[in-house]
Amino acid sequence: MHSELTSLRAEAENAIRAVTDSRGLDDFRVAYLARKGAIAAFFDRLKTVPAQDRPALGKLLNELRSAVQRMHDEKSAALLGAGTSPAASLDLTLPGRRGFLGTKHPLTQTLDEIKGIFVSMGFGIADGPEIEDDHHNFEALNFPPDHPARDMQDTFFLSPRALLRTHTSPVQIRVMEEHQPPVRVIMPGKVYRNEAISARSYCMFHQVEGLCVDRGVTFGDLKGTLIEFITRFYGPGLKFRFRPTFFPFTEPSADIYISCFICAGKGCRLCKQSGWLEILGCGMVDPNVFRSVGYDPEVISGYAFGMGIDRVAMLRHGIDDIRLFFENDVRFLNQF
Ligand code: PHE
Repeated sequence: MHSELTSLRAEAENAIRAVTDSRGLDDFRVAYLARKGAIAAFFDRLKTVPAQDRPALGKLLNELRSAVQRMHDEKSAALLGAGTSPAASLDLTLPGRRGFLGTKHPLTQTLDEIKGIFVSMGFGIADGPEIEDDHHNFEALNFPPDHPARDMQDTFFLSPRALLRTHTSPVQIRVMEEHQPPVRVIMPGKVYRNEAISARSYCMFHQVEGLCVDRGVTFGDLKGTLIEFITRFYGPGLKFRFRPTFFPFTEPSADIYISCFICAGKGCRLCKQSGWLEILGCGMVDPNVFRSVGYDPEVISGYAFGMGIDRVAMLRHGIDDIRLFFENDVRFLNQF
């Protein structure tokens, strides 16, 4: 058995030299080192040799096993180093890469909150196209033909007939064209105005429009709904006021102001020393608007409102430049 061990060792040395890839290395391992391999077979035969020879032979066998194992391990390391195995590019000692979880855009977060409040009050959500025609953006909303918003100076025209909507109010028209009253929806979306880009204004921003039409809807309903919204969105304890204003598509019309939450009404840069922030335009839908969609203003009435959400999101998060919303710099977006 002694000489058999010597020749097995020589044989293994030849075999390992012939190995060139991980497949060959595995064959080598199976032939010599595995449970049914050549060395295991010798261990089995150890039981049959005379007891006095066993310790010495056992020692030899153990040495042979270590030597063959070493041949295997050295070859394995050499193959890895040579890059012949795909495993060569793996470094299991490297720290793991941290997964990147995206976050919601601050505008989306603000919008989600606004939607949640109105949905809980029974409003549905509708949307409409960003490319509009004069009829939906102006005409049906009772804009006179010479209104300045119809000027190229203020509105992006794509062609004589197509323009980028300047507000979300045309969606009111589209909703009423398709549905008979009662209607109770909010309509969020992007709007466009031909304005110089600065930290405070951008050529594109976001609005949420609201519309409620039914028999017997009053200005009291408008006030109740919007006060509920303001209290839930901006928090209780704020002062607010309605000031008469003009929109072609509502009569009467109002702007809603809240007491400035930066200076609590004392006057600061944000509120231009007035103590008030304008947050919303609203009013009772003008009978001419109802007529343009075929509703009878003698039978139904309704209110509408519209608010910008970019400035709200800026105030909430202390963001001082509106352009940051649209640059998609991950370093900025990561913070929310
Ligand atoms: N569309 C108006 C604006 O862009 C806001 C508004 C909507 C006012 C609905 C009254 C009713 O300023």
